[in-house]
Amino acid sequence: MKGAPRRRRIPGALITGVLVLAWGAAQADVAAVRAPAQPAPATARSAARPIHKSAIASAHPLASAAGREILAQGGNAFDAAVAVSAALAVVEPSSSGLGGGGFYLLRRADGSATLVDAREKAPQAATRDMYLDAAGQPIADASTDGPRAAGIPGEPAAFEYLARKYGRLPLKTSLAPAIRLAREGFPMYARLQSGIRYKRGNLLHSPAAAKVFLTQGGEPPQIGAMIKQPDLADTLQALAERGAAGFYAGRVARDLVAGVRAGGGIWTLADLAAYRVVERKPVTGEYHGARIVSAPPPSSGGVALLDALNILSGFDLGNFDPATRKHVIIESMRRAFRDRAVYLGDPDFVSVPVALITSRAYAAGQGASIRVDKAMPSDLLPGVDAPPGGMQTTHFSILDSAGNAVAATISINLWLGSGYMVDKTGVLLNDTMDDFSAKPDQPNAFGLVGGSANAIAPQKRPLSSMTPTFVTTKDGMMIVGSPGGSFIISMVLLATLNYVDGMSAADIVKYPHYHQQYLPDVVDYESGALTPEEITVLQAKGQKLKEGRRAWGNMQVVTWDFASGAVQAASDPRGEGAGLVY
Ligand code: DON
Repeated sequence: MKGAPRRRRIPGALITGVLVLAWGAAQADVAAVRAPAQPAPATARSAARPIHKSAIASAHPLASAAGREILAQGGNAFDAAVAVSAALAVVEPSSSGLGGGGFYLLRRADGSATLVDAREKAPQAATRDMYLDAAGQPIADASTDGPRAAGIPGEPAAFEYLARKYGRLPLKTSLAPAIRLAREGFPMYARLQSGIRYKRGNLLHSPAAAKVFLTQGGEPPQIGAMIKQPDLADTLQALAERGAAGFYAGRVARDLVAGVRAGGGIWTLADLAAYRVVERKPVTGEYHGARIVSAPPPSSGGVALLDALNILSGFDLGNFDPATRKHVIIESMRRAFRDRAVYLGDPDFVSVPVALITSRAYAAGQGASIRVDKAMPSDLLPGVDAPPGGMQTTHFSILDSAGNAVAATISINLWLGSGYMVDKTGVLLNDTMDDFSAKPDQPNAFGLVGGSANAIAPQKRPLSSMTPTFVTTKDGMMIVGSPGGSFIISMVLLATLNYVDGMSAADIVKYPHYHQQYLPDVVDYESGALTPEEITVLQAKGQKLKEGRRAWGNMQVVTWDFASGAVQAASDPRGEGAGLVY
């Protein structure tokens, strides 16, 4: 986007109005497929439900097993969430860890929900233009590589918060499986090996990371080689003994700050000492009788999901041929992502019009601009182009036998985060600062654009797409989420539509994805997501289609059928995770 003209921002309501006028010529056929009246929403039916089993779906079998071990010791879903997160920090270091953060969506057994926001924060010394050169142009890789790309981590603070406020077990117990895995090691597997190969250049610049993730000859370890992380075990041990203070103060904090600054970063001890998780009210909505509970800002996930679902509520998707159904879903994505780019940011810093964007009236305006015969060019709105990034981050879903549930999506952003491990701590730093908008209309690693709402500021949380979600119908509940950067929102949208249509957990996780994120004006799709006939129809409607070279996503789903008590745990076959019913 270097040198591209900056476009003027136009309020969404205004855009909707203009578009309806300019775009509304072929609306007669739309009326025929507007949705019938919505059925009544599902209500909590906690009374007299059959006893059910516990279930865990996570991206690695050893992490699912860590969660099961904690449930077996009398822990609840929240204790298991700590155990699974910590185990993932060890065995899936490409995707999340103590050096990162994320969102924990919690459901208590009484049906009430809350969200623990453990998103990374910009350090106090961060500035709006810190990734731009003197000419105001983005410095290549500055927001993705090395310690300057790292926000202040939130995951360790979430461990103590979850254990103390919601769990039953001390951190000493729930962190024990992860400490064991870090000390004794886990076997290298293909996906991690390819992540290491991809990030090898960065890892070679970080002696601590190279020691763990590369052989002496500087190559990725063989499949099956045991990866031991004694420094990480010590840091986890400090957390187990001292809670969050074991990370944000004392020896570990001093080592973190010294290591970050030695690598050119800007963290201070005060930044670490000031970090707190924030408990926030989830965003909620309804879609054809299903109740949706999802992550609020500073994730854009829940808002964009509801925005799209509300738009789709205005159509009767069941009445369309398959290609037109996909076309309309794509058009809902286009509009939801446009709102994301314009309005969303950290609510502690900018005023986000959540109520407006998630309202039915707003969606009706958005829906009115959708033509079933023709794609709306995103060019009617501002224009940029960039490829999406990799498929990292991690999600897990847990349900315990009391009905407590956790949907957690946690991350260090791109493959192995910034690629920088701080000496003596075993902590691999995130590169989540790239989720900020470094410059208006400058696409980030996922091709996402944003404006001032998501500009960098000290202590601010970068906007996320992570979408841990509960979908509850009158018959049951789904706990869902995935990695995939901007694609997460589309994947959770498709999963929600599929669950409401009665699809099983196993089919939901393997469903082939398609995605439109407003800018670039392209529909990315996985092989098999569109049939040849659908491709012809969608192209005729003006959709610009691009088949991805790889599969994307690593969705983890737990479902619970209220009437029978049956639970299912399904892990995306694109990864090597495990769904366990216990
Ligand atoms: O919070 C976000 O939206 C990103 N940091 C998520 C990154 C991600 O999912 C990477 N996986 N492909």
